[in-house]
Amino acid sequence: MTTQEISPDSDSNDADVLLDIQSMELRYGAAVAVRDISLKVKRGQLVAVIGNNGAGKSSMVKGATGLVAPSGGKVLFRGADTTRMSANAKVGQGLVMVPEGRLIFPDQSVEDNLILGAYVHGGLKSAKAKATREKVLELFPRLKERLGQQAGSMSGGEQQMLAIARGLMAEPELLIIDELSLGLAPKIVDQLMGVLSALNNDGLTILLVEQLASYALAIADHAYVIANGRVAREGPSQVLARDPEVMEAFLGRKKPAA
Ligand SMILES: Nc1ncnc2c1ncn2[C@@H]1O[C@H](COP(=O)(O)OP(=O)(O)OP(=O)(O)O)[C@@H](O)[C@H]1O
Ligand SMILES: [Mg+2]
Repeated sequence: MTTQEISPDSDSNDADVLLDIQSMELRYGAAVAVRDISLKVKRGQLVAVIGNNGAGKSSMVKGATGLVAPSGGKVLFRGADTTRMSANAKVGQGLVMVPEGRLIFPDQSVEDNLILGAYVHGGLKSAKAKATREKVLELFPRLKERLGQQAGSMSGGEQQMLAIARGLMAEPELLIIDELSLGLAPKIVDQLMGVLSALNNDGLTILLVEQLASYALAIADHAYVIANGRVAREGPSQVLARDPEVMEAFLGRKKPAA
């Protein structure tokens, strides 16, 4: 995607905006986790959200997906106000999240986890769901070999594959991934980033929340830096990756040279 397509002028073309978070505030009781975040994800983009621990990234995506109700602002999905819509209803509309820490069902088999991912569309009954399962298993052959295995007994990387695969089973229009790299070796992170990049090239819109900023910026079109519940920086990833303040604050943990 070119930088022209994500210039401020293109805001006039709202039909392209899939997720539009407008001045979100989100509190846990008296504690304010998100102070004021506005963020747009356009159809076809891969947008990265980076920021330190406790910055409010996960709270923002919980507010966007309906897992926690924002205390202020709006969340538009495909142009409609979904601020008060339940998380389940949003999944049905194509707003799907792979949560931080994966949260797969550890006692269930890999296959059952995939079926649970498709529950909003009635499980694996439809031909479409079966075709999606085939595509997902093609994308992750490791899972295909392990369909009967208890999900919790797989490696961290395999569990993250399953979490993404389960998300894909819900037929997302926008896939939000919170901390892809959590606890994973650099080689696995690289592999999974490659999968996300391929999915995005295939047309899937992705919002990637990621502590390892250099990995996320390497595959994203556009990026937001979140600090203290606000947007501290925003711009094309290539520009942010060269921003001295961003480099100093977030790019200390560099992607190892290939
Ligand atoms: N359920 C909760 N109850 C109370 N406070 C919470 C809750 N969840 C998060 N917070 C607080 O909200 C703030 C933002 O947390 P959040 O998890 O959104 O940050 P984050 O940017 O995702 O951090 P990390 O990089 O560690 O995942 C933190 O101060 C955190 O302690
Ligand atoms: Mg988080």
